[in-house]
Amino acid sequence: MTVMAVETEGLEVRLGRHVALEGIGFRLPENGFLAILGPNGAGKSTLIKVLLGLQTPHAGSVRVFGHPAGRGPTREVGYIPQIKTLDRQFPALPLELVVSGIRGSWPWRIRREEREQAMEALTIAGMDRKLGTPLGQLSGGELQRVYLARSFVRRPRLLLLDEPATGMDALGEADMYRLLEGYRSHHKATIIMITHDWDVARHHSSHVLLLNRRQIGFGEAQEVLVGEALRQAYGHVGHAHPMTVQDSSRD
Ligand SMILES: Nc1ncnc2c1ncn2[C@@H]1O[C@H](COP(=O)(O)OP(=O)(O)O)[C@@H](O)[C@H]1O
Ligand SMILES: [Mg+2]
Repeated sequence: MTVMAVETEGLEVRLGRHVALEGIGFRLPENGFLAILGPNGAGKSTLIKVLLGLQTPHAGSVRVFGHPAGRGPTREVGYIPQIKTLDRQFPALPLELVVSGIRGSWPWRIRREEREQAMEALTIAGMDRKLGTPLGQLSGGELQRVYLARSFVRRPRLLLLDEPATGMDALGEADMYRLLEGYRSHHKATIIMITHDWDVARHHSSHVLLLNRRQIGFGEAQEVLVGEALRQAYGHVGHAHPMTVQDSSRD
């Protein structure tokens, strides 16, 4: 039987009086690569928070590897946030950032086995050649690779990435997808990524979730990213008329 990485049903999330998500229901099998697409304010980041167990849904259910979100083994899920600001003067080194991912706190002294684990992750991420460069002096793409190494180090079964390509050049982006693909196939991992890039969704994902507060489509990219659905998702950008979206999108 196929193991489900994520199962949601009738999911609804309210933030204050704002309905951030409603009618979300999809099943993503283990080893899948889900691209989440939708305009700004569609609730994409909110959905990631729900999967992490950081945001409690108002209604519906969400399971991650069979456990209620946030209640499974924490090592199973790795998260790479949307905005990574880093003080250019910050004197820390890549190894320290990666070890902080093993510990969950900043390492003042690094133990030998931690160093070995972190080195392995940095090597996979192609950053073993920049060990001596302070984080503040790395390019955006290089810093992103260190964050990827930080998430790989615990060998999560599920990786959640919120717009990971932001601030990267095209080459860095292509490298990152290669890296994610390598990690996914090697560890049978599942990847969920928010992206604004339809081509990325078409080329790298096994599944696409198209959102605009409600679920507009879920399935393979060529089924979901079609004219009418895209119009429903993006046709109302900048307009706060969820009811219009709802009414016009019945099958
Ligand atoms: N605490 C809150 N109270 C009310 N609305 C919120 C709150 N937090 C976020 N929102 C709104 O919820 C919507 C969904 O946000 P988000 O999930 O970040 O969207 P996305 O990642 O798709 O751009 C946005 O319109 C945002 O302004
Ligand atoms: Mg967001």
